[in-house]
Amino acid sequence: MASSALICDTEQWKALQAHVGAIQKTHLRDLMADADRCKAMTAEFEGIFLDYSRQQATRETIEKLLKLAEAAKLKEKIEKMFKGEKINSTENRSVLHVALRAPRDAVINSDGVNVVPEVWSVKDKIKQFSETFRSGSWVGATGKALTNVVSVGIGGSFLGPLFVHTALQTDPEAAECAKGRQLRFLANVDPVDVARSIKDLDPETTLVVVVSKTFTTAETMLNARTLKEWIISSLGPQAVSKHMIAVSTNLKLVKEFGIDPNNAFAFWDWVGGRYSVCSAVGVLPLSLQYGFPIVQKFLEGASSIDNHFHSSSFDKNIPVLLGLLSVWNVSFLGYPARAILPYSQALEKLAPHIQQLSMESNGKGVSIDGVQLPFETGEIDFGEPGTNGQHSFYQLIHQQPVYLKGETVSNHDELMSNFFAQPDALAYGKTPEQLHSEKVPEHLIPHKTFKGNRPSLSLLLPQLSAYEIGQLLSIYEHRIAVQGFIWGINSFDQWGVELGKSLASQVRKQLHGSRMEGKPVEGFNHSTSSLLARYLAVQPS
Ligand code: F6P
Repeated sequence: MASSALICDTEQWKALQAHVGAIQKTHLRDLMADADRCKAMTAEFEGIFLDYSRQQATRETIEKLLKLAEAAKLKEKIEKMFKGEKINSTENRSVLHVALRAPRDAVINSDGVNVVPEVWSVKDKIKQFSETFRSGSWVGATGKALTNVVSVGIGGSFLGPLFVHTALQTDPEAAECAKGRQLRFLANVDPVDVARSIKDLDPETTLVVVVSKTFTTAETMLNARTLKEWIISSLGPQAVSKHMIAVSTNLKLVKEFGIDPNNAFAFWDWVGGRYSVCSAVGVLPLSLQYGFPIVQKFLEGASSIDNHFHSSSFDKNIPVLLGLLSVWNVSFLGYPARAILPYSQALEKLAPHIQQLSMESNGKGVSIDGVQLPFETGEIDFGEPGTNGQHSFYQLIHQQPVYLKGETVSNHDELMSNFFAQPDALAYGKTPEQLHSEKVPEHLIPHKTFKGNRPSLSLLLPQLSAYEIGQLLSIYEHRIAVQGFIWGINSFDQWGVELGKSLASQVRKQLHGSRMEGKPVEGFNHSTSSLLARYLAVQPS
């Protein structure tokens, strides 16, 4: 396939389109009756078990998807990513989050330079800093040890670390290491969130970590200034060097903000914001809370999946299979949304993280060469931990004609009955015949009839410690990349988000002009102008 050709023009894509009819004629009930099929539609790595037998797919579908992967040059694209080629072509950048968790002796080049030593030099600095901090040797302006950390950042500088922090609740070793400490996150500029983030905290014992790849994001900088003020008003200006540190690729702006450059932790433009949890973005705050050794286990887990993804054959490769099945569901079966349903409360922030990771990566309408795509990419991701979700949106999943793909992740024994029941409820549904035989009153039959045939897949983890959390993260990161590689889009830029940012900056300028100089708000359409006028009238300052 020529590099600028679209995947939908290949014979492999058309073969899958032609295959849809046969699949849609077959109910999952019938597919599930074939034990050999069910046995074949599984994959396992280091105790992580993927069961995709409840997908509307046969072994023939998988073979066709594997041929599509060949047509899309998936192997070559993965190789280019691991080799540090500039596959994020619209930003002229390598995509090397795998280097963040690679072992010390690995060699991964970007622009001809091995980045691994740089990565480890920042990790060594974090290890040392976190040890000093946690031992109590790092003292604040009044000589007290610091036990509370507020991490200020948004988007990729927030969601990944929050996911890992929340998930670590089930790791007993991590819980032990975190005793007597608090890690909080501040993302929203809503004053309510600012107040929540510092509620009951004393600046004397609090460290603020400002996390921003660019160090220009309006929300983060405003929140950082607010917390700087909070520290200064209580402890004086000299306290900033002891109570504020930063993570950024823009160390010049960190210095200008007033943070001591010695207390700044770098990362690099080849780490995308939403792929940055394994850089200092996540490693620093998490090491302050749990100690570096726990975080290193998380990184090792992610690295184990990187190796699996890089070296396993595609028919046994968990991220590749997941990516191909996503393409099948979105582009061929027409499912617009995916529910992520972790049967573990500790994974409550998995869905919010994946929302950004997946939708910011693959919500693209043009190919990597800028050609408008005639097929759907990306799906809407949403989710809640089971069993909470069951009491919320599962009704729609079971009965609404808008199809959803369920996805369950669990590691928690007490939830297993629901974890096992739901995929079958989705697949089998309930027929009017069954309801009649149960003597259900006639008027209730339509309400209790479920067509079933709702595809899902189950990912079973042996446990949820730091290592498996890293594995889970890496599985999702690579699954998303596989989808993008097949569709031929750039999963690593986010121009849509940038558009919103620049429009917000125009509004900000106008609001400022109106408040400070009494200038009229101008340059917007009628609707926006009148909304702004109302806002200015009710919120005068
Ligand atoms: O949400 C858009 C985005 O650009 C993300 O990609 C990024 O993670 C986030 O904003 C925050 O950006 P920064 O880390 O530069 O503050």
